[in-house]
Amino acid sequence: MANIVIIGTQWGDEGKGKIVDLLAEYADIVVRFQGGSNAGHTMVVNGEKFISHLVPSGILQSKPSLLGNGMVVDPSELVKEIDFFHSKGVKVSPDILKISGKAHIVMPYHKLIDVLRESGKNKIGTTGRGIGPCYEDKVSRRGICFSDLLDIKTFREKVYDFLPEKNFYIEKFFSSESLNPETIITEYTEYGKKLELYVTDVSIFIDNAIKNKQNILFEGAQGTFLDIDHGTYPYVTSSNTVAANACCGSGIGPKEITGVLGVVKAYTTRVGNGPFPTELFDDIGKRLQKIGVEFGATTGRPRRCGWLDIVMLKNAVRLNSLTGLIITKLDVLCGLDEIKICTGYDEAKNPIYETMAGWKEDISEIKNFNQLPKNAIGYLKRIETLLNIPIDIVSVSPRREQTIILKNPFS
Ligand code: GDP
Ligand code: IMO
Ligand code: MG
Repeated sequence: MANIVIIGTQWGDEGKGKIVDLLAEYADIVVRFQGGSNAGHTMVVNGEKFISHLVPSGILQSKPSLLGNGMVVDPSELVKEIDFFHSKGVKVSPDILKISGKAHIVMPYHKLIDVLRESGKNKIGTTGRGIGPCYEDKVSRRGICFSDLLDIKTFREKVYDFLPEKNFYIEKFFSSESLNPETIITEYTEYGKKLELYVTDVSIFIDNAIKNKQNILFEGAQGTFLDIDHGTYPYVTSSNTVAANACCGSGIGPKEITGVLGVVKAYTTRVGNGPFPTELFDDIGKRLQKIGVEFGATTGRPRRCGWLDIVMLKNAVRLNSLTGLIITKLDVLCGLDEIKICTGYDEAKNPIYETMAGWKEDISEIKNFNQLPKNAIGYLKRIETLLNIPIDIVSVSPRREQTIILKNPFS
C-alpha cells in the first residue's frame, strides 16, 4: 500500500499529467484535491493527445478518478470534458468518476468577475476560469457547492441570496451587464441533472480505499510557487498547491501520505505575470519555448522559459517534504552547447549560475538510464546532489511509454 502525492515544484506545467497517467497504472484510485479548470494536464497515449482540466489524469487507465472537496469545479467545463472523453471511447461513468458534494461550484459571475478584473491594471495573468472569485466566495462563506446544486430549492435560494451583491459590483464597479438569476438557474439545473450520479462522499471513499490497503495517487495541479501562501504572491493561484493540501482537499489525515514526488521540468517555465529570476530573453529562451512546445494547455498563451532554479527547488523540497524527484522534458535540452543551473542569487538578487556541458544526441527513444549521454547523466546527478534527494523517474518525451522509471513509488 502506498499513498503518493505528485506535486509541481515550479510554476505549473511541469508534466504532472503525463506522470499521473503513467503511474495510475499501478494505483487503485486517483484524486485531484485543489484548483479547477485553470489546470491543463496533457497525456499522450498511442499517439493521441488528451488534455484534462478537471477530470483526474488517471481516467485513461480506467481508474476511479475523484474530484475532492478542495476543488472549484465549473460544471459546464466538467460536462464538456466528460462528453469529450466519452467521444474518445474513454469510460467516464459514475462508477469511475466521483465528485465531492463539498467541492465548490464555479458560477458564471466568478468567471465574469475574473475576466473583468484582469482587463484593468494590476493584472495577475489569470486563466480567466473564475478560480480566484470562486475561492473568495468559499472562504467568505458565500459559496455554492455540489450538494447545493443537487437540491434545486437550496440552489435557487442561494442564487437569489448572492447574485444581487455580485450584480451590484458588476454593474456599478465595472459598468458591465448584470446576470439574470433565472438564466443561471435553468443552465445549472441541467448540469445538476447530468452530474447528480457522480456526487459521492469522497473522503469516505478514500478512507475505504485506505482500509482496503489500496494504492492512492494524489494529483496536484499548478505548482509550488503558485501556492497562495508559499508562492510568488500576489502572482499565484488561489489555492494551496503544496502537498499538505492533498489531505485537506480530499478529507484524509496527514499520516496516510506515504510519499511525495516533486515533478521538476529540466528547465523552468512560467505562464502569466510575476517574478522569474532565471528567465531567458535570448535565443536559448526562444529555443526552449519552440522545442518544448511551451504554450499553455489551458489558454494557449506562450510560456516564459528560463534555466533551472535550484534555490526554488530547495524550497519546494522543504515545503512539500519531497521524498523523490521526477525530471521531465530532459529531451528538450538536447542540442545546447552549455546548460546553466542557478545555484544562488547575488546581493542584487541576480542568479548565480553553474555551467554544465550539454549533449547533442536525441534521447527521446531511450528506455534505460545508463543509455543516456554522459553529460545528460551528469546534469541529473548534479541536480540530485544539489537537492540531496533521489531522482526516481526521468521523462524524455510527451509519450507515456517514453519514461525511465528508476524507482516505482508503488512497488
Ligand atoms: P502539467 O500541467 O504539469 O500536467 O503539464 P502540461 O500538460 O500543461 O505541460 C507539459 C507539456 O509537456 C505537455 O505538452 C506534455 O505533453 C509535455 N511533456 C511532458 N513530459 C515531457 C517530456 O519528457 N518531454 C517532452 N518533450 N514533452 C513532455
Ligand atoms: P497546471 O495544473 C501554469 C497561473 C496563471 C496565473 C496564475 C493565477 O496545468 O500546471 P488562476 O487562473 O489560477 O487564478 O491564475 O496561475 N496558473 C497556471 N500556470 N499551470 C497551471 O496549471 C496554472 N494554473 C494557474 O497563469 O499566472
Ligand atoms: Mg498544465
